Amino acid sequence: MTSVFEYAILGSATAFLIYSIYQRFFHTEPLPPPPPPTAEHRDYTLFELSQYTGADPTKPILMSGNIYDVTPKASMYGPGGPYHNFTGTDASRALGKGVTDRSEANNTNWTDLTSDEMQQLDEWAGFYSARYQKIGNLIE
Ligand code: HEM
Repeated sequence: MTSVFEYAILGSATAFLIYSIYQRFFHTEPLPPPPPPTAEHRDYTLFELSQYTGADPTKPILMSGNIYDVTPKASMYGPGGPYHNFTGTDASRALGKGVTDRSEANNTNWTDLTSDEMQQLDEWAGFYSARYQKIGNLIE
């Protein structure tokens, strides 16, 4: 007659066996997240730049004056982020004027900026060049 003790051993051994088989054949490690897309180093037109807003997760997130890859801060620049409106555009005027909407996007004429606004823009230019990788220039 099988004792309670033997049943317990048998039960544990069976459970372990089933668990091992599950681990061996069915358990897969979660896939690592895909690497962030890398930007092609080249010059972009405003039209080309407009494709790089983070809406397409396979493309990097770019913004201009000089073109910077801001993908490393996708939480700030990707869709829903506070500075998403800068992406895919020439954001120089917005940075100079301190606005985060698209009202100043893609206007490459700075002649009406005040000296304070030009100074702001200059400071932001320093910020971006220190923090992000420049990948190209904006071209006509
Ligand atoms: C209520 C107003 C605002 C608040 C509370 C705010 C807050 C912040 C904070 C906390 C950061 C630093 C994020 C970090 O540590 O990485 C930041 C970065 C920044 N802010 Fe603002 N901000 C405001 C308005 C603006 C406006 C009007 C502009 C328009 C030019 C602006 C442009 C930027 C930019 C370009 C960055 C750098 C983002 C980066 O790390 O690349 N902010 N802001």
